[in-house]
Amino acid sequence: MTFRASILTLYPQMFPGPLGHALAGQALERGDWTCEARNIRDFATDRHRSVDDTPYGGGAGMVLRADVLARAVDHVSPADDARPKLLMSPRGKPLTQEQVRQLAVAEGVVIICGRFEGVDERVIEARNLQEVSIGDYVLAGGEVAALVLLDATIRLLPGVMGNEQSGSYESFEAGLLEHPHYTRPAEWEGRSVPDVLTSGDHAKIEAWRREQAEKLTHNRRPDLLEGK
Ligand code: ADE
Repeated sequence: MTFRASILTLYPQMFPGPLGHALAGQALERGDWTCEARNIRDFATDRHRSVDDTPYGGGAGMVLRADVLARAVDHVSPADDARPKLLMSPRGKPLTQEQVRQLAVAEGVVIICGRFEGVDERVIEARNLQEVSIGDYVLAGGEVAALVLLDATIRLLPGVMGNEQSGSYESFEAGLLEHPHYTRPAEWEGRSVPDVLTSGDHAKIEAWRREQAEKLTHNRRPDLLEGK
């Protein structure tokens, strides 16, 4: 099954961008996913092809118009389209690996990239757009956030990752940060690899890795351990 990503943006040339390379790029060539980036400006109707206007109530910045964006959404996602419609925004609910996992089993996603100060609230309500944030910082626009969300999703599509790893050992998949990794040379700048890893005792290695993951998580992300 092909995962269909439709992206509404004022900068369609930013897609697939980095996702045209490496793992996601190969998946794109194989047809595991498709990337349709449409310019919101194509759905403007006035002479100046304007997509934004000043905010009611005053204040700085411009607001993306509801009528223009709704036309764009309806064009790429007709009423019978079951794909979730996401609006990338620092106001959104933070993206989680759980949400990424759910997206990866969906038939695709429609992503709207915000620019300007915001989007007219009425189109968010009327088209049931789910606002998604990739973190507590403000980007210049939603495009890079959309690329992040797609990168995380595409690697989980069936057949994309191969058996390079079983997702279950990765950071967040087990609810813990990943344990440290080592490879050859065994000695480097006077630093050696922890003995347990060369012991050949797989049960001991597993226990060590688990303990390291728990320590790391406790120190860096105690929030992940809450309720455990
Ligand atoms: N657009 C601007 N900042 C963003 C963020 N942190 N997450 C998602 N979209 C954004």
